[in-house]
Amino acid sequence: MHADLNQVLFSEEQIARRVQEIGAQISRDYAGKPLVLVGILKGAVIFCSDLARAVSIPLSFDFMAISSYGAATRSQGVVRFIKDLDRDIVGKDVIIVEDIVDSGLTLSFLMDNLMQRGAASLATCVLLDKPDRRTTDVKPTYVGFVIPDAFVVGYGLDYAEMYRNLPYIGVLRPEIYTK
Ligand code: IMP
Ligand code: MG
Repeated sequence: MHADLNQVLFSEEQIARRVQEIGAQISRDYAGKPLVLVGILKGAVIFCSDLARAVSIPLSFDFMAISSYGAATRSQGVVRFIKDLDRDIVGKDVIIVEDIVDSGLTLSFLMDNLMQRGAASLATCVLLDKPDRRTTDVKPTYVGFVIPDAFVVGYGLDYAEMYRNLPYIGVLRPEIYTK
């Protein structure tokens, strides 16, 4: 385990197993449909690339980037576009792929925005769900794991852009972000 972590929440093997399960579920739910995975940069990149390979039906993927909250560990509720989709999603069955849903502000902003673009359907897939801190009524369609209110890093999730490459997910020691 990385020295900046308190605890490993999910090992590489646990994550891989859960990603396979979600991929199989999506393959059943979207068979015969024009599926587009929309990964949210940068946190969802690793999840999205593993998930895409766990889906056995044809799909395309695209990416969007919105502002993160820098080195803070709490969402400020300010969401700003940095990169839009490359292709339109008219008539497509879209799944937004996100690393984690916390307050839900990011996901509800993205859903409102993509809903207006003529997709045939819109669903959400998050690796982690932190329901204790929800301030919106978003309920993700697919959830990898429900977690308690702790700041976690690894498998794409960062603190100040670090730790994204850890192959497991762990709780960051509070000393790291309070000093
Ligand atoms: P929300 O808008 O409050 O739901 O926050 C969602 C975004 O905050 C995610 O896309 C993450 O980038 C970030 N985030 C929330 N909780 C954590 C965490 O525990 N670790 C790392 N990033 C987090
Ligand atoms: Mg994010």
